[in-house]
Amino acid sequence: MRVLAIETSCDETAAAVLDSERGLLAHELWSQVELHRPFGGVVPELASRDHLRRLLPLVRESLAKAGTQAAQIDGIAYTSGPGLVGALLTGAALARALAYAWQRPAVGVHHLEGHLLAPMLEEPAPPIPHTALLVSGGHTMLVEVRGIGQYHVLGETRDDAAGEAFDKSAKLLGLPYPGGPQLAALASRGRPGIFPLPRPMLDRPGLEFSFSGLKTAVSLAVSQAQSSAMGAAEDAQWRADLAFAVQDAIVATLCAKAMRALEATGHAALVVAGGVGANRALRERLTRHAARTGARVYFPRLEFCTDNAAMIAVAGLYRLQAGEREGLEVAVRARWPLESLAAPGAVPSSIEGTDKLPA
Ligand code: KG4
Ligand code: ZN
Repeated sequence: MRVLAIETSCDETAAAVLDSERGLLAHELWSQVELHRPFGGVVPELASRDHLRRLLPLVRESLAKAGTQAAQIDGIAYTSGPGLVGALLTGAALARALAYAWQRPAVGVHHLEGHLLAPMLEEPAPPIPHTALLVSGGHTMLVEVRGIGQYHVLGETRDDAAGEAFDKSAKLLGLPYPGGPQLAALASRGRPGIFPLPRPMLDRPGLEFSFSGLKTAVSLAVSQAQSSAMGAAEDAQWRADLAFAVQDAIVATLCAKAMRALEATGHAALVVAGGVGANRALRERLTRHAARTGARVYFPRLEFCTDNAAMIAVAGLYRLQAGEREGLEVAVRARWPLESLAAPGAVPSSIEGTDKLPA
């Protein structure tokens, strides 16, 4: 089976072609980072309009790179939530229109299921069941993956997501949007032990996270450092030192809770997914700590940590192969609990509470 996948949940337009026998044939991505940078964050209306401009050429390019004609596509997968409704609708409308024109089935994919299944594109793929640390711009959770589509949330953030903590701290440090990767780059020049930042919720039992206190601590540290008059070299150094401290606090917290989750589930495999999974300090620390307990960590390649369509193709392929199909209604969801999903081919979950366009 050959699947065309479309991802437009936020600020990346992406398309991919995945074949169940031959693997990933093409994956294309257009990032809107430059478009949103002047605003310091994603502007939903601009995101939707840009998806409209980019999506069709990107789909054509993916098909061409995959050496695939429309007639060779057996099904279409698209991100139907959670995400920005206007952005989601652009991908959903195109996917449904192509499915109708080509007379092929289409299936809406949960964006986080896509992230969770991205490591399935790697060699070796993680065994199932496993424990997953899902860390993106909007979500931070530990998930017990009992099977494809069978996700039990062990713990999640009470406030900010880990990616948000990276991005907000980066903003306080005067770094351009999106701050996560920029902060990580600055941290590589920082020294340990200069800024003692809190490690949120580490002292408490359980698998919940809280990162909102961190930005208060960072904000305080920034104003204190700025008020002590310094030259350019010193200024650059404290910024790097603080970036190091922020990254260290987030990474240490994520790692400690992930190890706790592995202990609770008894799994020997930890999957790390989502944009923050691209962070090298996190990857190194998790690998080191897991090895001590005899567990193995599985990461998607860096480009499949952040938003992409290849991961949507993986999730869509499982579901289309199991015979899942949607009606003609275009339905997307701004919110969509991960635990409401079912194994591929099982009764589709209710579409109540979705933002619908008339069929
Ligand atoms: O999964 P993703 O691409 O989009 C969402 O679905 O949210 O995650 C984006 C998040 C952003 O907060 C970004 O700053 C963060 O992932 N991120 C990083 C790194 N690369 C991306 N954070 C820390 N270090 C990185 N190298
Ligand atoms: Zn994402």
